[in-house]
Amino acid sequence: MPNQPFMIYGAYGYTGQLIAREAVARGHRPLLAGRNEAKLSALARELGLPFVAVGLEERAELLRALSSVAAVCHAAGPFVHTSAPLVDACLATGAHYLDITGELPVFEAIFRRHAEAERRNVALIPGVGFDVVPSDCLAGFVALAVPDAHELELALAVRGGMSSGTAKASFEGLLRGNFARRDGELRAIPFGRGLREVQFSDTRRTVMPIPWGDLSTAFHTTRIPNITTSMAIPRVLALSLPLAAPFLPGALRLLSRPWPRRRILALLDGHVRGPDGRQRSEGRGYLWARASNRDGLAQEAWLETAEGYAFTAESAVQALEALERSPCVGALTPATAFGTDFVLRLRGSVRYEHLPPVPHGRLSSRAAVPS
Ligand SMILES: NC(=O)c1ccc[n+]([C@@H]2O[C@H](COP(=O)([O-])OP(=O)(O)OC[C@H]3O[C@@H](n4cnc5c(N)ncnc54)[C@H](OP(=O)(O)O)[C@@H]3O)[C@@H](O)[C@H]2O)c1
Repeated sequence: MPNQPFMIYGAYGYTGQLIAREAVARGHRPLLAGRNEAKLSALARELGLPFVAVGLEERAELLRALSSVAAVCHAAGPFVHTSAPLVDACLATGAHYLDITGELPVFEAIFRRHAEAERRNVALIPGVGFDVVPSDCLAGFVALAVPDAHELELALAVRGGMSSGTAKASFEGLLRGNFARRDGELRAIPFGRGLREVQFSDTRRTVMPIPWGDLSTAFHTTRIPNITTSMAIPRVLALSLPLAAPFLPGALRLLSRPWPRRRILALLDGHVRGPDGRQRSEGRGYLWARASNRDGLAQEAWLETAEGYAFTAESAVQALEALERSPCVGALTPATAFGTDFVLRLRGSVRYEHLPPVPHGRLSSRAAVPS
């Protein structure tokens, strides 16, 4: 958005900084925002950018700051605590709202505001980071080949560390319980069950169902009524889970009490550091999706991506650019806003429609609707 400035809220957080640096590298001059003036001004000075220190509860100041931008990329999470005030402010000022959440209740809350966003000519596009751009685009891609699909399976494997923000959001997500989508509705399912093997583009892994944001976004993108989202887990965890599964509900109840919850969040805040530059350049993401119908027709596809945080920084900035090129309104998923090939524009993304025998060759880094 070279001519229309955008705001990065939460710009001095681990991922916010990556997004700000990526934006500058791509020739933008975003307005940096967040609640801590000292942290903001240090980053703004280093990058030579304007900044505004404003808390999400300071509504008048927030409205004033948003009135000067065309869009905001919200990077201050966990978003269950921070999304609503910024969405409200965007709807009031007409600024478009994008965020990098992966949190299921946040997606659900934002999609409920679709009509309001349309009325106000505002785009609300949550999940423009690693959660959920690759999986949302891959889900949309396989769904194209099976128009009457009744089941969608998605699985993800990541190589690389996590930031404290992600660790805290994941912990809070764990406490909310596990879910799958059945007959169009979100249904609670137990943690630690439903383990299975999935062939990714690099290797075979054991995956476990988790309450991933795609239970909301992939449903909106594909309308497939039954969706399971899974994540690869280490072998040792896969072996011990069947024994531990009966005790998990009790353990989670214990951890959700105020004191243990606060203590764990503080530990994650103080001790988890995001991946360093080397880990970001060496890490990879691996995704698999399969859409199938009741007659047994199925389409699979695989995706490899850059490491999650490197991916998120580029994806968030490219999403802002895509929105300026092709404006849209309403509460949208990344794939419905930017198309299922959006992911292929990002460095390191490769999509496969078939897996050749090992060692595999790269079949396609370009779009092709499977036959
Ligand atoms: N979609 C994806 O793939 C993806 C990728 C990366 C990150 N994320 C998500 O993005 C979020 C941030 O991650 P991170 O790695 O940047 O974590 P981080 O380093 O902990 O940064 C979080 C930022 O949010 C700010 N913040 C938290 N609560 C706030 C509030 N109520 N009001 C204003 N600012 C608030 C913090 O500011 P203070 O320092 O002032 O507290 C901090 O700057 C997490 O929720 C994470 O899950 C998603």
